[in-house]
Amino acid sequence: MTVTVIVGAQFGDEAKGKITDYLAARAQFVVRTGGGPNAGHSIRIGEESVVLHQLPCGVLRHGVTAIGGPGMVVDPSGLEEEIRALDQRGLLKGGLLFSDRAHVILPLHRLEDAWEEKVRSAGAAGRSVGTTLRGIGPAYSDRAGRWGLRLADLTRPASLAERLALLYATKEHLADLPPEEEMRAELVAVGQRLAPLIQPTEPVLWEALRRRDTILLEGAQSALLDVDFGTYPFVTSSHPTSAGALVGSGIPPQELDEVVGVAKAYATRVGAGPFPTEEEGAAGEYLRREGAEMGATTGRPRRCGWLDLVLLRFAARLNGFSSLAITKVDVLGGLEEVPVCTAYESPSGGRRTLYPPTMADDFRGLTAVYDRLPGWPPFTHALKERLAREGASALPGELKRFLGYLTEQTGVPVEYVSYGPRRHETLWLGRGGRKVPQNELTGWAR
Ligand code: IMP
Repeated sequence: MTVTVIVGAQFGDEAKGKITDYLAARAQFVVRTGGGPNAGHSIRIGEESVVLHQLPCGVLRHGVTAIGGPGMVVDPSGLEEEIRALDQRGLLKGGLLFSDRAHVILPLHRLEDAWEEKVRSAGAAGRSVGTTLRGIGPAYSDRAGRWGLRLADLTRPASLAERLALLYATKEHLADLPPEEEMRAELVAVGQRLAPLIQPTEPVLWEALRRRDTILLEGAQSALLDVDFGTYPFVTSSHPTSAGALVGSGIPPQELDEVVGVAKAYATRVGAGPFPTEEEGAAGEYLRREGAEMGATTGRPRRCGWLDLVLLRFAARLNGFSSLAITKVDVLGGLEEVPVCTAYESPSGGRRTLYPPTMADDFRGLTAVYDRLPGWPPFTHALKERLAREGASALPGELKRFLGYLTEQTGVPVEYVSYGPRRHETLWLGRGGRKVPQNELTGWAR
């Protein structure tokens, strides 16, 4: 039995869904602990491609119960649609529950998201966040402001009417709101249909812990998008860290066994905000093309660049990674050398290696300093076949060296490597750290 948290170690889109799906093969529960339809977890099953937005990856596996945890914000109509579409394709295999404490995203939250982005871009600095426009930020704001509706309210018409009236009273600044009465009727109807899925979920997990079941806490977004520790204000509105996963599920900290940090062998970001290793020219275009780096939720082209060890060391320390999963190594196959950023240099020549600036503006003027590692051969069909047959021993030597280098540089063992979108294209390299090990990197306090 283990409780494992899966955390994005970069700016999101690290292929966490794929790693969660891989680990779900030996889990009884998979829990989404935060975020909502801003996520887009792409998973390839045989020749089928599946993109999950609100459903935890566990729904794709027999014998798994997938739980939408209390830390989520849920768009109920979108959820229904996602369930229906998956069911029609015969892919809904696991059980499914949603926490009655999870908050509800309403159409007015999406309107407010767009309104907020407009206000930001009209500000003196003219900078919007580049949100997914799915209403995530406004729904979390209403949660913190005590205006929010929870899934529990959808199953109680009287409570729903009262809460909705209060919420509408706070939205006078928004134009084109759907009529309140219409909204109420719609929510009652969707609440009735979803009611069989909605219940307190912490007790289910506490029973599972007592039975010593295996539980995966599936992160969405990523550590560098955390509302406190990310590149504020260019962040999401939740806590996509290991600590946030505990809050977002109701599992107490001492139950946690492993924290898997997922990072691509390079880096991407969608939306605005600092990205010190971004490549805006041909190299970025190459990564975008080879890695098919288009947003799974919004279809926006992702900004692309190289792996950033300053951010990875920070994410490792913050989340207590016990192991790393490095994904999309095939995308870099065939490059002569692979740049990896080891430090940021300021104009005065000072170097940062561990801790990124707190202020987004302070990233400006920093130059990424690179190590250039020897590249590995392309992931041809023949190489993939050998890997499927022989496992990790068939990995190209240069790639093994790259993975060893990452372990050395972050203090975290690389335990998984993913070399393609298909389910079987993931290798387990051996046990990483059990019970979050002490990270040996020093020099944090200056
Ligand atoms: P929001 O979460 O829609 O409010 O967006 C805030 C920021 O987080 C934007 O830069 C988004 O592009 C980014 N973001 C949110 N969810 C994801 C995700 O699942 N993958 C990558 N970026 C995300």
